Amino acid sequence: MEGFHKHIVVLEGDGIGPEVMREAIKVMEMVNESLGLQVTYSKGLIGATAIDATGDPLPQSTLDQCEAADAILLGAIGDPKYDNNPDAPVRPEDGLLNLRKSLGLYANIRPIKIFEGVQHLSVLKEHVIQGVDFVIYRELTGGIYFNDKWTKGDVAADTCLYSVEEIKRIAKLAFEAARGRHRKLTLVDKANVLETSRLWRKTVDAMKADYPDVLVDYMFIDNAAMQVIVNPARFDVILTSNMFGDILSDEASVISGSLGLLPSASMGHSSRLYEPVHGSYPQAAGKDIANPFAMILSLAMMYRAFQLTAVSDAIVDAVNSCLKKGVATEDIFRDAPCKCSEAGDAVCFELQDKLTQSGTIPASLGSEK
Ligand code: IPM
Ligand code: MN
Repeated sequence: MEGFHKHIVVLEGDGIGPEVMREAIKVMEMVNESLGLQVTYSKGLIGATAIDATGDPLPQSTLDQCEAADAILLGAIGDPKYDNNPDAPVRPEDGLLNLRKSLGLYANIRPIKIFEGVQHLSVLKEHVIQGVDFVIYRELTGGIYFNDKWTKGDVAADTCLYSVEEIKRIAKLAFEAARGRHRKLTLVDKANVLETSRLWRKTVDAMKADYPDVLVDYMFIDNAAMQVIVNPARFDVILTSNMFGDILSDEASVISGSLGLLPSASMGHSSRLYEPVHGSYPQAAGKDIANPFAMILSLAMMYRAFQLTAVSDAIVDAVNSCLKKGVATEDIFRDAPCKCSEAGDAVCFELQDKLTQSGTIPASLGSEK
């Protein structure tokens, strides 16, 4: 496609980050070549890797690069050497949290879907997960993650604070998403106990009038944690705070069979960030066994935001074809797994076919869904 040029920043991060990223880049380069697109990238340091190299989990140069980019791809963050050290002066996670905050990425979008061919691998019964298709809108730059924190001797505190403004801006995105889906929005909170949750309810309630076509319901987080397992098909769009969204999205990953399949997108004021929901899985680092599909599906979310809907769909299709053919890493097909790099190759192979099929892609390249 003539003249299409985007520049992105690639942050491999820690653990399996570099391995899953390598596969996503393979896919990206194949798309570039097949369609004559120019998606160029430069790499930046973040997380434990950045601490080792510079002492800072988010060096200024990384932040500068990210601010100038059209999008950011991130692998994973975290290193066990910090996990059991409560006194560590800096942590890898600070890099990611600062990046989200600095870029104003206040909405984290985590779709939960069933992948054909692997339903039977879910720990949940097939009839329970039948038809599951929902998306979590997690607030990402406020709440208990980001407000006043302190330790004084034997006492410590994390403050959960939200303003109407913070709630409104993500609620707006969630309402709009519901409009494009099954028009159902569930606010998950703990309004029977928390002041902040009551403010969320009031704010969302006041916005309902602007979205008369969207059905809003409210659910306490403890109940929601149960409903995600016993009746996940009831959800369409879940809107929730930072902490609840963090927990709920890991929990919801069991529906699709593996955390290794879940992509996410974060958006806000400027460039968007795409990252798998899974962590750095340090035990697997360097072994070529990690699942690259969540990273590749995150890349697909990036193409969608670039309005290259057909490319995005083709990548998702390619991953689905792999799963249907039984090609996936050991978290999915324990008995006959492929390697991380083979899974990436397989996606490229499937994709090649889809990109060249009867010219469908170039013709509809720029079309919105
Ligand atoms: C996530 C992760 C992060 C979070 C960590 C790595 C700080 O668990 O993206 O869900 O808690 O937000
Ligand atoms: Mn998490």
